[in-house]
Amino acid sequence: MDTKTAHRDDEPFYEERRPRGSTRKALFWRVVLLVGSFALAQAVVSALSGRDASAPHECRVAPDDPEAIWSKIPPSSIDSLSWTPCYSGQECAMLMVPLDYSKPSGRQAGIAIYKVPSKLAPGDEKYKGPILLNPGGPGGSGVGLAIRLGTGLQKLVGEEFDIIGFDPRGVGRTTPQIVFFEDEAEGAAWRLRVEGDPLINSSADALTRQYARSQVQNAIANRTTAHASPYVSTALVARDMLSIVKAHGQDKLQYWGFSYGTILGATYAAMFPDNVGRLIIDGVVDADDYYAGSWSNNLIDTDTALRMILDACVAAGPTKCALYESTTDKVHARLTSIFDNLKKQPLPIYNSTSGREYGLVDYKLVRTALFMLLYSPNGGTNISADYPAQNFLNALAHVEKGDGLPFGRLTHLVPVEPPFSCSCPGEPGKPTVVPFLWLEASTAIACSDSDAAHADDTIEDLEEFFEELAKGTEFADQWAVTLACIGWRARPVERFAGPFVANTSFPLLLIGNTADPVTPLTHARKMSRGFDNSVVLHQDSAGHCSLSATSLCSAKIVREYFRDGKLPKNGTVCSVESTIFPTDAVAPRVHALSAEDFAVLEAWKEIAAAVEIPKLGRVL
Ligand SMILES: *[C@@H]1O[C@H](CO)[C@@H](O)[C@H](O)[C@H]1NC(C)=O
Ligand SMILES: *[C@@H]1O[C@H](CO)[C@@H](O)[C@H](O)[C@H]1NC(C)=O
Ligand SMILES: *[C@@H]1O[C@H](CO)[C@@H](O)[C@H](O)[C@H]1NC(C)=O
Ligand SMILES: *[C@@H]1O[C@H](CO)[C@@H](O)[C@H](O)[C@H]1NC(C)=O
Ligand SMILES: *[C@@H]1O[C@H](CO)[C@@H](O)[C@H](O)[C@H]1NC(C)=O
Ligand SMILES: *[C@@H]1O[C@H](CO)[C@@H](O)[C@H](O)[C@H]1NC(C)=O
Repeated sequence: MDTKTAHRDDEPFYEERRPRGSTRKALFWRVVLLVGSFALAQAVVSALSGRDASAPHECRVAPDDPEAIWSKIPPSSIDSLSWTPCYSGQECAMLMVPLDYSKPSGRQAGIAIYKVPSKLAPGDEKYKGPILLNPGGPGGSGVGLAIRLGTGLQKLVGEEFDIIGFDPRGVGRTTPQIVFFEDEAEGAAWRLRVEGDPLINSSADALTRQYARSQVQNAIANRTTAHASPYVSTALVARDMLSIVKAHGQDKLQYWGFSYGTILGATYAAMFPDNVGRLIIDGVVDADDYYAGSWSNNLIDTDTALRMILDACVAAGPTKCALYESTTDKVHARLTSIFDNLKKQPLPIYNSTSGREYGLVDYKLVRTALFMLLYSPNGGTNISADYPAQNFLNALAHVEKGDGLPFGRLTHLVPVEPPFSCSCPGEPGKPTVVPFLWLEASTAIACSDSDAAHADDTIEDLEEFFEELAKGTEFADQWAVTLACIGWRARPVERFAGPFVANTSFPLLLIGNTADPVTPLTHARKMSRGFDNSVVLHQDSAGHCSLSATSLCSAKIVREYFRDGKLPKNGTVCSVESTIFPTDAVAPRVHALSAEDFAVLEAWKEIAAAVEIPKLGRVL
């Protein structure tokens, strides 16, 4: 699978609904990698804009759009789940479940489910049941995730499994949907204004502007999501997962959840400890902190992740690292001075040859792009692959010299929200365009899960929050989830906030990385204490979730856990094959692999490539 093709400039950006590689993947990662970094998503703007002469705003929904299937799938109930062929060779269903489980005969939610079916014949006793996925966010689409990595994951774990992605309540193809704005153009116009606001620490009114914006946005949401918000919460989605499992005639969940998906997994395990078959939570969030709405301890290892990149720059030397200095501190100082200069004076970009690339490289853009880089700084496992950190520092070296175009190009590949164009008219009553604007669902889920804890926070509360956060990290101004919940008043019909303590029917596997910028390893250890016999796997890499690096060791553990129920020794440390900067040699042990190990490693690489972030550096 060639995932390394560059984004073509003549491709419109808004086609995220088509399975066309980079844009979809990038969108996915904006979800997984965020763990609710609203500020980040709001801040990531394309430095470059431009007319796209080759693609006037034609109707977006192509006749052969595989997404069109969702309006045709008949609703199924738990005892008569029926599948419709979809997305060339896979199966889709719309499972009806109670909107409010305390009112089983009341109104219903329709859960969109996508399945890469097991290759075994029906009834084969070797069948191992479904593995459910959640990509994080909150607000990420599980259908989207499974579309991208379902077949690769099936190669990793075996064809005896179904791989299932479902869109959680509020998200994507599932109803009810959380959509704040009347139409896409209105939402896009609002977000452009938000994006134009500076990072909270870089002007006197930056924090107060964002505060006021949240009040407006959540007042809008209060009116436009009244039918949906009360039925959106992680506890309800945990119940939906059990419904999906039961609809498959099974009793125990098999699951792999990333980032916020670890909240969903831990919530399920605590609510339904007897219905756990295999459960991996990867990039573990501290559930107590999450449900309190605190967001206070995510950034413990963020600066370590940056340090690992800068260490790698020093080790790589001046020919490979464009901002090379003799020590890590010196590289860091050089970076900081570039940032400080941009704070005073953004760089203009205009490509006078094409006339099509223009915009500003400013402080917010480069800081946000750096934060995003921390989620996935690792390069491929061989020298021909992409190295996002190398590309980032290279582009920053151009910024240092006053040339913003390479950096603009780099972030051009960071996805932007769909631009101003409306969807095609479709069937009455059916959404024509799946709302991939997951930020809105994300706000709803995170703010409702915290029981609207921040609805009435004052500016002073927030100032205190950011000051406290800034004591531990230079990235505090990227972490504005609490700010996004100002004025959010909806409360879910069901909420579960712990305790996260259970003797589960099968032990959980928790995975944490050495320097995960938003889900520190210590949270995996903390959450493990609540779940009897659970085991922590420590992957020795920088980046968010295990899939941000290639590791044969992790790949084998995940495979054996699902296939054979084998747990690694508690505290096992897995090294990784990927490196942050290119090395001259392919890791020697890759040559000496058995055929099975080689296949496992290739499957992991395929999955990891399908969720690769950021799109930094494709065209440099
Ligand atoms: C809207 O605001 C009212 C008044 O504060 C609150 O009671 C209600 O739960 C909110 N509903 C939603 C959907 O936000
Ligand atoms: C400007 O755009 C043209 C056409 O796309 C491209 O060939 C050229 O490399 C760009 N200029 C710079 C300085 O990148
Ligand atoms: C290196 O990566 C490229 C692109 O992903 C791939 O085509 C090639 O086979 C890889 N080489 C080795 C030795 O793994
Ligand atoms: C804002 O900047 C000041 C001065 O550099 C610093 O002391 C403070 O910690 C920063 N706050 C945040 C949230 O980054
Ligand atoms: C957990 O459940 C297992 C099996 O039911 C039982 O043997 C064990 O004693 C339980 N552990 C605790 C701490 O309750
Ligand atoms: C695994 O280690 C964690 C701490 O890292 C601990 O909380 C947990 O109880 C251990 N699990 C087992 C089965 O020993």
